[in-house]
Amino acid sequence: MPAPAAPLRFDFLVLGSGIAGLTFALRAARAGRVALITKKNRTDSNTNWAQGGIASVWGPDDTFDLHVRDTLDAGAGLCREEVVRRIVAEGPQRIADLIDLGARFDGTDDPERPGRRALDLTREGGHSRRRVLHAKDATGAEIERALLKAVAAEPNIAVFENHFAVDLLTTSKLGLPGPNRCIGVYVLDRPADRVELFSAPVVVLATGGCGKVYLYTTNPDIATGDGVAMAYRAGAGIANMEFVQFHPTCLFHHRAKSFLISEAVRGEGGLLRGADGERFMERYDHRAELAPRDIVARAIDSEMKKSGSDCVFLDITHKPARFIIDHFPNIYRRCLELGLDITKEMIPVVPAAHYQCGGVITDIDGATEIPGLFAVGEVACTGLHGANRLASNSLLEALVCANRAADRLLAHRPEPFAGPLPAWETGNATNADEMVVVSHNWDEIRRVMWDYVGIVRTDKRLRRAEKRLANLQDEIREYYWDFRVTSDLLELRNIAMVAELIVACALQRPESRGLHYNLDHPAPDPAWAQRDTIVRRPA
Ligand code: SIN
Repeated sequence: MPAPAAPLRFDFLVLGSGIAGLTFALRAARAGRVALITKKNRTDSNTNWAQGGIASVWGPDDTFDLHVRDTLDAGAGLCREEVVRRIVAEGPQRIADLIDLGARFDGTDDPERPGRRALDLTREGGHSRRRVLHAKDATGAEIERALLKAVAAEPNIAVFENHFAVDLLTTSKLGLPGPNRCIGVYVLDRPADRVELFSAPVVVLATGGCGKVYLYTTNPDIATGDGVAMAYRAGAGIANMEFVQFHPTCLFHHRAKSFLISEAVRGEGGLLRGADGERFMERYDHRAELAPRDIVARAIDSEMKKSGSDCVFLDITHKPARFIIDHFPNIYRRCLELGLDITKEMIPVVPAAHYQCGGVITDIDGATEIPGLFAVGEVACTGLHGANRLASNSLLEALVCANRAADRLLAHRPEPFAGPLPAWETGNATNADEMVVVSHNWDEIRRVMWDYVGIVRTDKRLRRAEKRLANLQDEIREYYWDFRVTSDLLELRNIAMVAELIVACALQRPESRGLHYNLDHPAPDPAWAQRDTIVRRPA
């Protein structure tokens, strides 16, 4: 591996190029130089894959109180109400900013007010009103397009693609006295095959979630929990990782990897049917197909187990073909490529890991327990989602909290770290020729998590997963220290860490609540109603 270069110094380091990272970077760039570091291309983010939309109070029949109530109901007693209220209340203004930046949501021009648009609002599970702004069925891609265009025009932002953050650099890691503080990041420059040191008084994790910890997921390949793993290793508190949201409707097709069928399909009238063609959701919840996701995913899981079938079906064929193609062009096209015409045929679907509701503990401004370290978006646990995220609240949270984090930092800028910074030690690392070990462990972790830590859990299965993961962790640690770092090895190390944290949190919670359903403790326990499960690296 080539020799390390001198530290690269900036005012702000942002890891991740989804809505949270780009929003923060754009605002922070007003006050200083920003390095935007992303492990693949700048368009590789969970945001880019988001189909449904962004929830906000927009329609005349809606109120902040209703949006707050729906969020608290979905969150099953664990949301932080003051956080919910503020995020909901700031939503419309932040969305207006996004529209000013050039994001185009579906709607019609308002003839009464030239230049103003009446936006189309769709509906998703758990929402009592239509309040989901969207751009057809590719809302995230439209938001990314607008933000990336603005970033490209901003001279104060330097984008580093194919740069993989390895670990956070903290004063405690340097053995310095005083409270721990984050002062930089070691980053693998993949094309140069060299670990560089980026330094700044502010590091923002905007690295998204961890869907790839599970065998089946709606997430892109980049979702390997890097931010949570790095924050944990640096000593930050991590909360509520047991609440992994399984999206009820991922396309079930041998040639389709991770393709989501948006909840908006159910919002616009799609019906769930078993292999026998009968509807089943009414037997589980009075809101039927529009019940919150945890309920729908569990119902599907139970129907599949009862009937022994590999999937259930989502049926929108009763709607006019024009309506379907117009509302869901992306889903229509993708399914057609696979030989499935959704205007005429039912869509085979299964639940798949979709969203991490827990994460790095932060306040509403994204500040973690470690000064200088911020986390925004899916990587963070602000208290908005509680035990189950309300659909389309995540883009909203990322937008509001990234703005708040930037505003706070512009008002109070931390001092740069003045001391010397140690370059990355490559030690005696040799080339890794045993990639088979990496890919075997990667598969094993994802299967263990799917089989033992999925939609329905038991104490015994959780303990079994804990044991297996501990063995795998030992092997990975040994491998990590012995061999040259590669992005595959770094991702493996991170998914193993995050899997362990999910299991640790799940074992801490002796009840069923929201997304965490344990057959040995099938009911919620009032003693746990307002308790987060928290894990910290032993000192
Ligand atoms: C979807 O379109 O169903 C995803 C929306 C979300 O996860 O919030």
